[in-house]
Amino acid sequence: SARTPDRLRSPIVCILGHVDTGKTKILDKIRKTNVQDGEAGGITQQIGATFFPLDAVKRETSKLAAGRALSHDIPALLIIDTPGHESFTNLRSRGSSLCDIAILVVDIMHGLEPQTMESIQLLKQRKTPFIVALNKVDRLYDWKAKPMTPVIDALPAQKKHVQDEFKRRLEETKVAFAEVGFNSEVYWDNDDVRSHVSLVPTSAISGEGIPDLLYLLVSLTQKLMSDRLMWTSHLECTLLEVKVIEGLGTTIDVILTGGTLKEGDTIVVCGLDGAIVTTVRALLTPHPMKEMRVKGQYVRHASIEAAQGIKISADGLDRAVAGTQLLITEDGGSEEELDLLRVEVMKDFATILTAVDRSGVGVYVQASTLGSLEALLAFLESSEIPVAGLNIGPVHKKDIVKTSTMIERKKKEYATVLAFDVPVEKEARELAEELDVRIFTADIIYHLFDQFTAYMDDIRG
Ligand code: GTP
Ligand code: MG
Ligand code: NA
Repeated sequence: SARTPDRLRSPIVCILGHVDTGKTKILDKIRKTNVQDGEAGGITQQIGATFFPLDAVKRETSKLAAGRALSHDIPALLIIDTPGHESFTNLRSRGSSLCDIAILVVDIMHGLEPQTMESIQLLKQRKTPFIVALNKVDRLYDWKAKPMTPVIDALPAQKKHVQDEFKRRLEETKVAFAEVGFNSEVYWDNDDVRSHVSLVPTSAISGEGIPDLLYLLVSLTQKLMSDRLMWTSHLECTLLEVKVIEGLGTTIDVILTGGTLKEGDTIVVCGLDGAIVTTVRALLTPHPMKEMRVKGQYVRHASIEAAQGIKISADGLDRAVAGTQLLITEDGGSEEELDLLRVEVMKDFATILTAVDRSGVGVYVQASTLGSLEALLAFLESSEIPVAGLNIGPVHKKDIVKTSTMIERKKKEYATVLAFDVPVEKEARELAEELDVRIFTADIIYHLFDQFTAYMDDIRG
């Protein structure tokens, strides 16, 4: 694959951190959007992606002193949002595996929390460079808001006792990072970004430090990873979500981390019933600075280069499996090449199927995405509940019929469907009533866990 030394692709930035530290809110502040307000329970349960063209980033950082103006080698930033809730380890892992650099968000009032630690482990394993957003500085007692101001200007403008509390919490944070093996320093005092993690105080509500965060991201990617970001034609593409969109049918959301995708390309993806070979009908992206996981208007492209979050419309995607690789044929593809690609894409799927109990006894699990399905399976495994079947998408009558066989097999407690964030068809609900099959539904994953745990406790006495 040809490398082009004088051309860089957009870096992929992953936002990681403990639940409710403000990951989504920070992105909302940069995008001037309100994605967080629309989330069920105010928690993120999917991976998101937003494309920030560099001119937008430059606009946001223009308030930083002139001498710090950005040089302009990368075309954009692709920022990936991840859930902080403990159930979604799989999605944090997937997000961090895709990225070049990460923003670890820490609530300055709470310090390092369990999923902060988990995120640090992921970053360590993959040797991913990261910066820390020390978020919610506006929560410091008596903080005076300086909207969207570089924090290097906002901090000296605070009263002495506010500055003192800030310094104390900053020192505590540095000690906590040292305990997990990282030297860290507030970014304006950080003379060696290779040996010390930069800490950037931010507020996602009033916007202090947001310009600093963006500035640091761009300057670090340019300084530390221009080799890694060299543009190559080799296709690397990960399927994030499978979604039904009105007017488009079943689509897949992908992150293109390398190479180029074109309309009309023959793609090969992993499917629940075997490999899917299909042709790209349309390549769609949200508008720049809009979150991919939020339904909105799409821009259609004849071809797209990495890095980008893309919605692909094509036939036959109903049974596609998220979290797997998307492959592409060269020159339309011979039968021989297609066979190789079919084998290749199905490799990832083997692991998830091992969760299904061979005896055929167990509950039935249905979810809107593979990511949430994986989270449900992990929960059931830790609760020692066997799984007889799984599916992605709405609950149909046939799913109820399958589940009802547990009653004949004298395992009535398993005649249960756990349905996360998927509709239950009216006929399916009626049949479940008739056959005495329980359906648990929820759009917040831990509510589903709670309901089901209460039910099992009841049964097991
Ligand atoms: P998950 O994705 O569910 O892990 O949460 P998150 O890290 O994306 O946090 P989110 O953006 O959902 O914010 C959580 C809560 O903290 C919301 O109520 C936000 O309004 C609030 N919040 C986020 N950032 C700030 C901040 O800088 N200052 C203050 N005061 N509140 C904040
Ligand atoms: Mg979030
Ligand atoms: Na949240």
